[in-house]
Amino acid sequence: MDTKVIGHRTPRVDGEFKLTGQADYTVDWRAQDMLYGYPVPASIAHGVLETLHLDTARAMPGVVDIFHHGHFPALYRSPSSSAHQDQVSEVRLPFEDERIYYDGQYIALVVAETFEQARAAAYAVRADYRQESDAMASLLDTDQEGDLLDSQGVSRGDPDNAFDKAPVRVDHTYQIAAESHMQMEMHATLAEWRDERLIVHESSQGVVYQHKAMARIFGLPDESVEVISHYIGSGFGNKLFMWPHAVATAGAAQMLGRPVKTILPRQQDMESGGNRPASRQRLRLAAARDGKLLSIRHDSTTETSFVHRYVDAVGSATPSLYACDNLATSQRLLEVNHGTPCPMRGPGETSGIYALETALDELAIALDMDPLELRRRNHAEKDPANGLPWSSKHLDDCYASAAKRFGWEKRDPTPGAMRDGDEILGWGMATSSWPAMRMPCSARVELRADGSVLAACGTQDIGTGTYTVVAQTVAELSGVPLKDIEVSLGESSLPAGPLSGGSMVTATALPAVAAALRDAFDALKEVAIGENGAFEGSDPESLEVEGGALMDKQGKRVSFGEILDGQKLGSVNGEGQAAPGDEKGQYSFRSFGAHFVEVRWDPGISRIRVARVVSSIDIGRAINPSAARNQVEGSIVMGIGMALTEKLDYDPRDGRLINNNYADYIVPCHADMPEIDVELLDNPDYAFNEFGARGIGEIGLTGIAAAIGNAVHHATGKRIRDLPITLDKLMES
Ligand code: MOS
Repeated sequence: MDTKVIGHRTPRVDGEFKLTGQADYTVDWRAQDMLYGYPVPASIAHGVLETLHLDTARAMPGVVDIFHHGHFPALYRSPSSSAHQDQVSEVRLPFEDERIYYDGQYIALVVAETFEQARAAAYAVRADYRQESDAMASLLDTDQEGDLLDSQGVSRGDPDNAFDKAPVRVDHTYQIAAESHMQMEMHATLAEWRDERLIVHESSQGVVYQHKAMARIFGLPDESVEVISHYIGSGFGNKLFMWPHAVATAGAAQMLGRPVKTILPRQQDMESGGNRPASRQRLRLAAARDGKLLSIRHDSTTETSFVHRYVDAVGSATPSLYACDNLATSQRLLEVNHGTPCPMRGPGETSGIYALETALDELAIALDMDPLELRRRNHAEKDPANGLPWSSKHLDDCYASAAKRFGWEKRDPTPGAMRDGDEILGWGMATSSWPAMRMPCSARVELRADGSVLAACGTQDIGTGTYTVVAQTVAELSGVPLKDIEVSLGESSLPAGPLSGGSMVTATALPAVAAALRDAFDALKEVAIGENGAFEGSDPESLEVEGGALMDKQGKRVSFGEILDGQKLGSVNGEGQAAPGDEKGQYSFRSFGAHFVEVRWDPGISRIRVARVVSSIDIGRAINPSAARNQVEGSIVMGIGMALTEKLDYDPRDGRLINNNYADYIVPCHADMPEIDVELLDNPDYAFNEFGARGIGEIGLTGIAAAIGNAVHHATGKRIRDLPITLDKLMES
């Protein structure tokens, strides 16, 4: 497809709104007579709330009410069959009973006239508890294995027998600490009841899904709820779920008959607003002497909470990544006393690929083989998980291109052998991968007499550039300039669109927008050929859309606006739907890439830093290459955190989150940034959709921590199998 706008670098169409403060984030919204809510977190991790002492708090200035068990509306639990569909984080409702499952669980919500008054009163609430037993707040503090999940394991061939007979084997266990999303904008809700309608402003990655959950919980018909999320300061997955503060806020607003806004402080956001669960993964790999994989076993345990069974499917990429006839995966789930985990960027696979790609590095060393060569020898020509051909796979090009740009052929494989002054260089690599997903989607388009076009879809832009790629699609197909295109997203009353999750919005929404646009063109043509129309009596088939105008075979052009204006019409509308079709059974859809990393280890001062990252990623067509590259760059930054610094530290004595703030939970900052060189291959995947785009939000994070860990081993000779690789681990001899 020869394109003018799609596939070209395009500045964010919403950039100006963000830079000038016009973008309306949830906390910017105000309502008449609005009150502020502030949750009160439990200070034990496992037991029963016996008494709440509220008198002091109630007497404080501005306090209007304090909600808690026994003083809250009776609501309906939302079923929890699938978190992604139900969008509810905790199966139990806030204040449903007096049981405490984790430190930070809400025991009350103070509502006051100002935010500061609500916060001050929340600090003044005291509680007596009965502690039931010791809390266990981390998988990393126990060797318990949890319950085996029938839903997760797959197997093919005879992996145990193949392992036992193989000449070269590795068998190691990898642990990853729980992480926090640390998205810039914290969770927030403004709930307002107008007559019997509930209007919720929420920073949400799925307005349509939160809408359904709210309707069920409050027993309302669908049309009585609206969820709005125009601008979102990122989410990384923790805004896929609706958290208890949202229900608590809407319930309080209902009882008080006044709007209530709750803004979670960072501490509560980290404690009760989602996390990537800690994992323990045992990888057993076996190979022939030529490197050919003979057996893969991937057995994992991940955490969940006592209020929701969240499964972080860490083994889900493993069956598809490499050709190997004998394979088995299994997963266990262990309940711990901390806030419910949830998807975090590349959920499951980011953790799983870390373990697999680290184990492959260990296998390469056992084979005395270059780690890139080992991966090439096990290239999967088809998807080994189901035997289907790939819709489009160019992983070998990713390896070749990134290796060349990085200079991989100059690598001396001996650990510690490459020096630059005081520093020891470590070079490591890993494969990156994420499935390509698509959902059914609807959209609406309006062509207006003033020449502008509106495209609307009930998905949302979490900061990744969805407004822009929708506008690009309209511009591409209509020829209307970007400045005349308005995009409306983030309202649950719009035609139903996808979650901003799973890297699927681009592939899902753009075909629906295109269908709606074509429907609008048809409506416009009907207007144009009608009585007194600009092309009265013409065959609509003979009219082409070009440059914001209709054109006939003789070259007569009339702009959309003039056509409508001539008929005294303000606009014409188009509706469109798109969904995956038969291609689903014909191909496997997955993106691949490769990361190459240089770390520098200065043993004299015990300093490790990531100095250089070279990545090549194949996502089909990048609709907006600058926004797409930005997703991979951001993932690399996040991967540095995962590999070297990020860890939720729960106190083993009481299950309390110790580092519940940006100062103590260490994310990489500017000074930690390496040289980052990201290349996106351009191989449009038209089997997947008409634009050839597979999506890019998450893939960059997969593999990066493994590439860093492998580079650390190459520099230091130390194989640290517990993320993050903090300096203390490197200093131990
Ligand atoms: Mo992504 S973790 O599916 O927001």
